[in-house]
Amino acid sequence: MDQHVHRRAGSISINRLSEPAGAEVVGIDLSLELGTNERDILFEALLKHHVLVIRDQDLTSDQQMALTAKFGKPESHVFHDAEGKSGPQVHIVNNLDKHGNPSSRPTTFGSFFWHTDKSYHEIPSLATFLHARELPPGGGGDTEFANMYNAYESLDDAVKKQIADLRAVHSWEANRRNTGNRPATEEEKKLRPPVSHPLVRTHPDTRRKTLYIGIHADCIEGLERKKGIELLKKLYRHSTERENVYAHSWKPGDLVIWDNRCLLHRVVGNYDMDSHRRILHRSVVIGTRPC
Ligand code: OGA
Ligand code: MN
Repeated sequence: MDQHVHRRAGSISINRLSEPAGAEVVGIDLSLELGTNERDILFEALLKHHVLVIRDQDLTSDQQMALTAKFGKPESHVFHDAEGKSGPQVHIVNNLDKHGNPSSRPTTFGSFFWHTDKSYHEIPSLATFLHARELPPGGGGDTEFANMYNAYESLDDAVKKQIADLRAVHSWEANRRNTGNRPATEEEKKLRPPVSHPLVRTHPDTRRKTLYIGIHADCIEGLERKKGIELLKKLYRHSTERENVYAHSWKPGDLVIWDNRCLLHRVVGNYDMDSHRRILHRSVVIGTRPC
Protein backbone atom coordinates (compact mmCIF):
# COMPACT_ATOMS: atom_id res chain seq x y z
CA MET A 1 0.00 0.00 0.00
CA ASP A 2 1.16 3.52 -0.81
CA GLN A 3 2.98 5.08 2.15
CA HIS A 4 1.10 8.32 1.66
CA VAL A 5 -2.41 6.92 1.74
CA HIS A 6 -4.32 8.39 4.63
CA ARG A 7 -4.40 6.22 7.74
CA ARG A 8 -6.43 8.22 10.21
CA ALA A 9 -10.01 7.39 9.22
CA GLY A 10 -10.86 6.69 12.85
CA SER A 11 -10.17 10.26 13.94
CA ILE A 12 -12.37 12.16 11.48
CA SER A 13 -15.24 14.08 13.02
CA ILE A 14 -18.04 15.93 11.26
CA ASN A 15 -19.62 18.92 12.97
CA ARG A 16 -22.74 20.56 11.55
CA LEU A 17 -22.41 24.32 10.97
CA SER A 18 -26.00 25.33 10.25
CA GLU A 19 -29.40 23.80 9.67
CA PRO A 20 -29.70 24.48 5.91
CA ALA A 21 -26.18 23.35 5.00
CA GLY A 22 -22.57 23.04 6.04
CA ALA A 23 -20.41 20.82 8.20
CA GLU A 24 -16.83 21.15 9.33
CA VAL A 25 -14.69 18.06 8.83
CA VAL A 26 -11.98 17.80 11.46
CA GLY A 27 -9.04 15.41 11.59
CA ILE A 28 -8.09 15.01 7.95
CA ASP A 29 -5.04 16.16 5.99
CA LEU A 30 -6.10 16.45 2.37
CA SER A 31 -2.52 16.67 1.12
CA LEU A 32 -2.27 12.92 1.73
CA GLU A 33 -3.99 10.58 -0.69
CA LEU A 34 -7.46 9.69 0.60
CA GLY A 35 -8.09 6.02 1.21
CA THR A 36 -11.43 4.57 0.09
CA ASN A 37 -12.71 4.77 3.63
CA GLU A 38 -11.98 8.50 4.02
CA ARG A 39 -13.36 9.20 0.59
CA ASP A 40 -16.59 7.42 1.51
CA ILE A 41 -16.84 9.28 4.83
CA LEU A 42 -16.47 12.60 3.00
CA PHE A 43 -18.93 11.68 0.26
CA GLU A 44 -21.55 10.54 2.76
CA ALA A 45 -21.04 13.76 4.75
CA LEU A 46 -21.43 15.77 1.52
CA LEU A 47 -24.76 14.07 0.81
CA LYS A 48 -25.93 14.80 4.34
CA HIS A 49 -24.62 18.36 4.79
CA HIS A 50 -24.26 19.57 1.14
CA VAL A 51 -21.27 21.80 1.99
CA LEU A 52 -18.09 20.50 3.64
CA VAL A 53 -15.54 22.82 5.22
CA ILE A 54 -12.04 21.49 5.86
CA ARG A 55 -9.87 24.11 7.58
CA ASP A 56 -6.10 24.67 7.56
CA GLN A 57 -5.18 22.91 4.35
CA ASP A 58 -2.24 23.85 2.13
CA LEU A 59 -2.68 21.98 -1.14
CA THR A 60 -0.63 22.17 -4.31
CA SER A 61 -2.63 22.10 -7.54
CA ASP A 62 -1.69 18.45 -8.01
CA GLN A 63 -2.88 17.56 -4.53
CA GLN A 64 -6.16 19.41 -5.11
CA MET A 65 -6.67 17.57 -8.42
CA ALA A 66 -5.91 14.22 -6.77
CA LEU A 67 -8.54 14.96 -4.12
CA THR A 68 -11.03 16.12 -6.77
CA ALA A 69 -10.56 12.98 -8.87
CA LYS A 70 -11.59 10.83 -5.89
CA PHE A 71 -15.12 12.22 -6.30
CA GLY A 72 -15.61 11.71 -10.04
CA LYS A 73 -14.42 12.90 -13.40
CA PRO A 74 -12.69 16.29 -13.22
CA GLU A 75 -14.16 18.98 -15.46
CA SER A 76 -11.86 20.74 -17.92
CA HIS A 77 -11.48 24.47 -17.81
CA VAL A 78 -10.52 26.35 -20.91
CA PHE A 79 -10.03 29.64 -19.08
CA HIS A 80 -8.11 30.73 -15.99
CA ASP A 81 -6.01 27.63 -15.49
CA ALA A 82 -3.58 28.08 -12.64
CA GLU A 83 -0.71 26.93 -14.83
CA GLY A 84 -1.97 28.38 -18.10
CA LYS A 85 -2.92 24.92 -19.41
CA SER A 86 -6.31 23.65 -20.52
CA GLY A 87 -7.71 20.29 -19.50
CA PRO A 88 -8.76 19.19 -16.03
CA GLN A 89 -6.68 21.58 -13.95
CA VAL A 90 -7.13 23.70 -10.91
CA HIS A 91 -8.03 27.19 -12.02
CA ILE A 92 -8.19 30.48 -10.20
CA VAL A 93 -11.18 32.41 -8.90
CA ASN A 94 -10.28 36.02 -8.14
CA ASN A 95 -11.48 39.61 -8.02
CA LEU A 96 -8.82 40.99 -10.35
CA ASP A 97 -9.38 43.23 -13.35
CA LYS A 98 -7.57 42.79 -16.66
CA HIS A 99 -4.50 44.55 -15.29
CA GLY A 100 -4.33 42.13 -12.35
CA ASN A 101 -5.49 44.65 -9.77
CA PRO A 102 -8.19 43.98 -7.18
CA SER A 103 -11.43 45.45 -8.42
CA SER A 104 -15.14 45.71 -7.74
CA ARG A 105 -15.55 45.15 -11.51
CA PRO A 106 -13.37 42.03 -11.98
CA THR A 107 -13.12 40.34 -15.38
CA THR A 108 -15.84 37.86 -14.43
CA PHE A 109 -18.58 38.48 -11.92
CA GLY A 110 -21.27 35.91 -12.74
CA SER A 111 -20.83 34.23 -9.38
CA PHE A 112 -22.33 37.22 -7.54
CA PHE A 113 -25.75 35.88 -8.58
CA TRP A 114 -27.43 32.76 -7.20
CA HIS A 115 -26.52 29.86 -9.46
CA THR A 116 -25.57 26.22 -9.65
CA ASP A 117 -22.38 25.50 -11.54
CA LYS A 118 -22.62 24.92 -15.30
CA SER A 119 -26.40 24.53 -15.36
CA TYR A 120 -26.13 25.83 -18.95
CA HIS A 121 -24.52 22.50 -19.88
CA GLU A 122 -26.46 19.32 -20.59
CA ILE A 123 -24.28 17.65 -17.98
CA PRO A 124 -23.73 20.18 -15.21
CA SER A 125 -21.23 20.04 -12.34
CA LEU A 126 -21.60 17.57 -9.49
CA ALA A 127 -19.32 19.11 -6.89
CA THR A 128 -17.05 22.15 -6.75
CA PHE A 129 -13.86 22.36 -4.66
CA LEU A 130 -12.69 25.81 -3.64
CA HIS A 131 -9.44 26.34 -1.73
CA ALA A 132 -8.83 29.77 -0.15
CA ARG A 133 -5.29 31.05 -0.84
CA GLU A 134 -5.54 34.79 -0.28
CA LEU A 135 -8.40 36.63 1.40
CA PRO A 136 -9.31 40.20 2.29
CA PRO A 137 -7.68 40.90 5.68
CA GLY A 138 -10.81 42.09 7.45
CA GLY A 139 -13.02 39.18 6.37
CA GLY A 140 -15.91 39.34 3.88
CA GLY A 141 -16.21 37.78 0.44
CA ASP A 142 -18.45 35.14 1.97
CA THR A 143 -19.93 32.37 -0.14
CA GLU A 144 -23.61 31.71 0.50
CA PHE A 145 -25.41 28.43 -0.08
CA ALA A 146 -29.18 27.89 -0.31
CA ASN A 147 -30.63 24.45 0.38
CA MET A 148 -32.76 23.46 -2.61
CA TYR A 149 -34.27 20.38 -0.96
CA ASN A 150 -35.80 22.71 1.64
CA ALA A 151 -36.74 25.15 -1.11
CA TYR A 152 -38.74 22.46 -2.90
CA GLU A 153 -40.25 20.84 0.16
CA SER A 154 -41.49 24.13 1.60
CA LEU A 155 -43.44 25.12 -1.53
CA ASP A 156 -47.25 25.13 -1.35
CA ASP A 157 -48.82 22.01 -2.75
CA ALA A 158 -50.44 24.08 -5.49
CA VAL A 159 -47.03 25.36 -6.66
CA LYS A 160 -45.51 21.88 -6.45
CA LYS A 161 -48.31 20.70 -8.71
CA GLN A 162 -47.90 23.65 -11.08
CA ILE A 163 -44.17 23.07 -11.59
CA ALA A 164 -44.09 19.26 -11.43
CA ASP A 165 -43.51 18.76 -15.15
CA LEU A 166 -42.04 22.10 -16.15
CA ARG A 167 -38.58 22.53 -17.65
CA ALA A 168 -36.41 25.64 -17.53
CA VAL A 169 -34.20 26.67 -20.42
CA HIS A 170 -30.66 27.45 -19.21
CA SER A 171 -28.08 29.12 -21.41
CA TRP A 172 -24.69 30.79 -21.46
CA GLU A 173 -26.32 33.66 -23.28
CA ALA A 174 -28.81 34.10 -20.41
CA ASN A 175 -25.93 33.90 -17.95
CA ARG A 176 -24.16 36.78 -19.67
CA ARG A 177 -27.34 38.82 -20.04
CA ASN A 178 -28.68 38.21 -16.52
CA THR A 179 -25.35 38.98 -14.85
CA GLY A 180 -24.58 42.11 -16.88
CA ASN A 181 -21.35 40.57 -18.25
CA ARG A 182 -20.38 41.35 -21.86
CA PRO A 183 -22.89 39.67 -24.21
CA ALA A 184 -22.16 36.15 -25.47
CA THR A 185 -20.47 36.12 -28.87
CA GLU A 186 -22.05 34.28 -31.82
CA GLU A 187 -19.31 31.67 -31.51
CA GLU A 188 -20.01 31.14 -27.81
CA LYS A 189 -23.72 30.78 -28.53
CA LYS A 190 -22.95 28.08 -31.09
CA LEU A 191 -20.55 26.31 -28.74
CA ARG A 192 -22.99 26.50 -25.84
CA PRO A 193 -26.55 26.24 -27.18
CA PRO A 194 -29.44 26.50 -24.69
CA VAL A 195 -30.36 23.35 -22.78
CA SER A 196 -33.47 22.50 -20.81
CA HIS A 197 -33.56 20.90 -17.37
CA PRO A 198 -36.50 19.88 -15.18
CA LEU A 199 -37.44 22.52 -12.59
CA VAL A 200 -37.88 19.73 -10.09
CA ARG A 201 -34.84 17.52 -10.10
CA THR A 202 -34.37 14.22 -8.29
CA HIS A 203 -30.95 14.08 -6.66
CA PRO A 204 -29.31 11.00 -8.18
CA ASP A 205 -27.73 9.83 -4.90
CA THR A 206 -30.31 10.73 -2.25
CA ARG A 207 -33.38 10.38 -4.52
CA ARG A 208 -34.83 13.49 -2.86
CA LYS A 209 -36.48 16.20 -4.95
CA THR A 210 -34.76 19.59 -5.33
CA LEU A 211 -35.57 22.81 -7.15
CA TYR A 212 -33.13 23.25 -10.02
CA ILE A 213 -32.98 26.92 -11.01
CA GLY A 214 -30.42 29.77 -10.93
CA ILE A 215 -29.19 32.80 -12.85
CA HIS A 216 -28.46 30.71 -15.99
CA ALA A 217 -32.17 29.82 -16.26
CA ASP A 218 -33.68 31.98 -18.96
CA CYS A 219 -37.34 31.02 -19.27
CA ILE A 220 -39.74 28.10 -18.90
CA GLU A 221 -40.44 25.80 -21.83
CA GLY A 222 -44.00 26.14 -23.07
CA LEU A 223 -44.78 29.19 -20.92
CA GLU A 224 -45.04 32.72 -22.21
CA ARG A 225 -41.60 34.28 -21.62
CA LYS A 226 -42.79 36.93 -19.16
CA LYS A 227 -44.80 34.41 -17.14
CA GLY A 228 -41.84 32.04 -17.02
CA ILE A 229 -39.48 34.74 -15.79
CA GLU A 230 -42.00 35.76 -13.12
CA LEU A 231 -42.25 32.18 -11.94
CA LEU A 232 -38.45 31.80 -11.84
CA LYS A 233 -38.12 35.03 -9.82
CA LYS A 234 -40.72 33.85 -7.34
CA LEU A 235 -38.89 30.55 -6.92
CA TYR A 236 -35.50 32.32 -6.39
CA ARG A 237 -36.95 34.58 -3.74
CA HIS A 238 -38.49 31.64 -1.95
CA SER A 239 -35.32 29.52 -2.19
CA THR A 240 -32.90 32.14 -0.93
CA GLU A 241 -34.73 33.39 2.17
CA ARG A 242 -32.18 33.87 4.95
CA GLU A 243 -33.27 30.93 7.06
CA ASN A 244 -32.52 28.65 4.11
CA VAL A 245 -28.96 29.92 3.66
CA TYR A 246 -25.55 28.97 5.08
CA ALA A 247 -23.03 31.81 4.68
CA HIS A 248 -19.44 30.62 4.71
CA SER A 249 -16.89 33.05 6.17
CA TRP A 250 -13.57 32.04 4.67
CA LYS A 251 -10.28 31.59 6.47
CA PRO A 252 -7.01 31.12 4.58
CA GLY A 253 -6.44 27.41 3.99
CA ASP A 254 -10.14 26.50 3.89
CA LEU A 255 -11.07 23.82 1.40
CA VAL A 256 -14.79 23.86 0.75
CA ILE A 257 -16.64 21.20 -1.23
CA TRP A 258 -20.27 21.66 -2.26
CA ASP A 259 -22.93 19.60 -3.99
CA ASN A 260 -24.28 21.54 -6.97
CA ARG A 261 -27.23 19.18 -7.33
CA CYS A 262 -29.07 20.45 -4.25
CA LEU A 263 -27.75 24.00 -3.69
CA LEU A 264 -27.67 27.43 -5.19
CA HIS A 265 -24.62 29.51 -4.27
CA ARG A 266 -23.18 32.97 -4.77
CA VAL A 267 -20.27 35.06 -3.54
CA VAL A 268 -21.01 38.27 -1.64
CA GLY A 269 -18.89 41.37 -2.24
CA ASN A 270 -18.96 42.37 1.44
CA TYR A 271 -15.37 43.66 1.51
CA ASP A 272 -13.39 46.44 -0.10
CA MET A 273 -12.99 44.73 -3.47
CA ASP A 274 -11.01 47.61 -4.96
CA SER A 275 -8.27 47.30 -2.32
CA HIS A 276 -7.98 43.63 -1.39
CA ARG A 277 -7.26 40.46 -3.32
CA ARG A 278 -9.49 37.40 -2.94
CA ILE A 279 -7.86 34.37 -4.57
CA LEU A 280 -9.16 30.81 -4.48
CA HIS A 281 -8.17 27.66 -6.34
CA ARG A 282 -11.09 25.86 -7.96
CA SER A 283 -11.68 22.38 -9.31
CA VAL A 284 -14.86 20.58 -10.29
CA VAL A 285 -16.22 17.10 -10.98
CA ILE A 286 -18.85 16.51 -13.65
CA GLY A 287 -22.26 15.22 -12.68
CA THR A 288 -25.08 13.55 -14.58
CA ARG A 289 -27.96 14.78 -16.72
CA PRO A 290 -30.60 16.26 -14.40
CA CYS A 291 -33.85 14.25 -14.34
C1 OGA B 1 -17.59 29.08 -8.09
C2 OGA B 1 -18.24 30.19 -7.40
C3 OGA B 1 -18.01 31.60 -5.49
C4 OGA B 1 -16.94 32.25 -4.70
O1 OGA B 1 -16.37 28.93 -7.93
O2 OGA B 1 -18.30 28.33 -8.76
O3 OGA B 1 -19.39 30.46 -7.62
O4 OGA B 1 -17.12 32.35 -3.50
N1 OGA B 1 -17.48 30.82 -6.51
O5 OGA B 1 -15.93 32.67 -5.28
MN1 MN C 1 -20.26 28.91 -8.95
